[in-house]
Amino acid sequence: MTTYAFSTEPAADIDAGLLILPVFEGGDPGPGVREVGLADAYSAARRNGKKGENLLVAGGDGEAFAAGAVLLVGAGPKAEFDVTALRRALGSVGATARRFGSVATTFPLALGARQAIEGVQAAAEGLGLGAYRFRRYKTGEDDGAPLERITIIGSSRWDAKAARDAVARADVLVDAACWARDLVNTPAGDLPPAEIAKAAQAMAKQAGLTCKVWNETQLAQGGFGGILGVGKGSVNPPRMIELTYRGAGARSTPIALTGKGIAFDSGGLSLKDATGMETMKMDMGGAASILAAMKAVARLKLKINVIAAIPCSENMPSGSAQKPGDVITHRGGTTSEVLNTDAEGRLVLADALAYLAEQEPACIVDTATLTGACMIALGTDIAGAMGTSDDLAGELIRAGAAAGEPIWQLPLHPDYRKLIDSKVADIKNIGKRYGGAITAAWFLAEFVGDIPWVHLDIAGPAFSEHGNDLGPAGATGMPVRTLVGFLRGRADGARRR
Ligand code: BES
Ligand code: MN
Ligand code: ZN
Repeated sequence: MTTYAFSTEPAADIDAGLLILPVFEGGDPGPGVREVGLADAYSAARRNGKKGENLLVAGGDGEAFAAGAVLLVGAGPKAEFDVTALRRALGSVGATARRFGSVATTFPLALGARQAIEGVQAAAEGLGLGAYRFRRYKTGEDDGAPLERITIIGSSRWDAKAARDAVARADVLVDAACWARDLVNTPAGDLPPAEIAKAAQAMAKQAGLTCKVWNETQLAQGGFGGILGVGKGSVNPPRMIELTYRGAGARSTPIALTGKGIAFDSGGLSLKDATGMETMKMDMGGAASILAAMKAVARLKLKINVIAAIPCSENMPSGSAQKPGDVITHRGGTTSEVLNTDAEGRLVLADALAYLAEQEPACIVDTATLTGACMIALGTDIAGAMGTSDDLAGELIRAGAAAGEPIWQLPLHPDYRKLIDSKVADIKNIGKRYGGAITAAWFLAEFVGDIPWVHLDIAGPAFSEHGNDLGPAGATGMPVRTLVGFLRGRADGARRR
């Protein structure tokens, strides 16, 4: 458990294991550097403020600072320094900070006053996310306890209440994103659909959410043919997790969320090759991010209503598996021809989208590790957004930019709809080789009716092979902070109306 705090004490007086201060390109000392007497030490060590050019100075009797040590962090060109650069710079030293037990930083003081509060939140987020480790399966050597305390140093001229709220928010967001990371990083062998559902129930109980878990029998009675069809080949039966958050009155129309929860994607009978399935425990990254976003929304007590229906199946080949050519009847009656059992995410999401659309929410957002094609289009760092409302897509893209989780919109090009026309059923579950992210989105679009809807394809950014500034290799927790930022925006909008 990390404590998050805001302080206006002078940097030199701050009592922390490690004090982190920025230095900009050209050796330009950032807030606190002169006060702790280290401006010359940095340039004497032949560092120039470029990103990653850091200098660690241990404390001692002769030093002008109370902290155990000071880390001077190269923050790049001052002109390019913004909230995102700040979050990433601190994320990249989060792992170092963890070794000192507690950490403080002046980084937000280097932003303009108008960005101060955002900067406070981003600083605490960067440190918290960067300090994350997944240690569950590591025996032997212990690389230390989690960070005890994160203190963000700011100005006494800032709104102190807003700054304290910002660090508290960062606490909630880091906790949620790291919980999503834990769920995704946990091997599929230890987290089949029923276990994901149990984790959701435990979370819901703690956070004060209503949770209903649909079992196989209930799914069959409800007509959830996609969730069942995909799950048929596995000894681990499917589930659907339904969460309800009421933060506004009963007359306030809810926002609906869903996420792809494939506990493991082997491809089914359209089997993947060995390397293709190495990371497929991550195929419930969408589900994990929705669970985590719901947790955060409840803890932040946002004044909105949110419903979530999260389909969880395991996609395995076996004598009982669905076969290429099989026809599924989805929730609501639409039929689909399963020509490739590896295009399974859309099959489970279809049922959840149809179920959510029945409840006539204000809008629907889904997130899914859906297509390799989206990774070809946008690379590993950027999520694709597709949907029936450009306004809603814009809201999510802006929330993503603010969270440092980049999202790029791809067109739901009308001419591509016919690529999923089926000769035997209403639609088929694959298109042609090209435009695979978009044909997948067209499949989903069949199930949302006229409710404004956006789909986020997170096949690239959900999982990082080598790690990035905000965390180690493995699950990233994307798009938890984006989703919560989007929902906060909706809650603020509702208050103003
Ligand atoms: N889960 C995969 C997509 C994926 C691939 C996510 C790599 C993350 C990394 C999805 O179920 C899948 O297999 N999609 C197929 C669809 C195809 C058969 C139409 C793909 O993208 O190849
Ligand atoms: Mn697949
Ligand atoms: Zn998949």
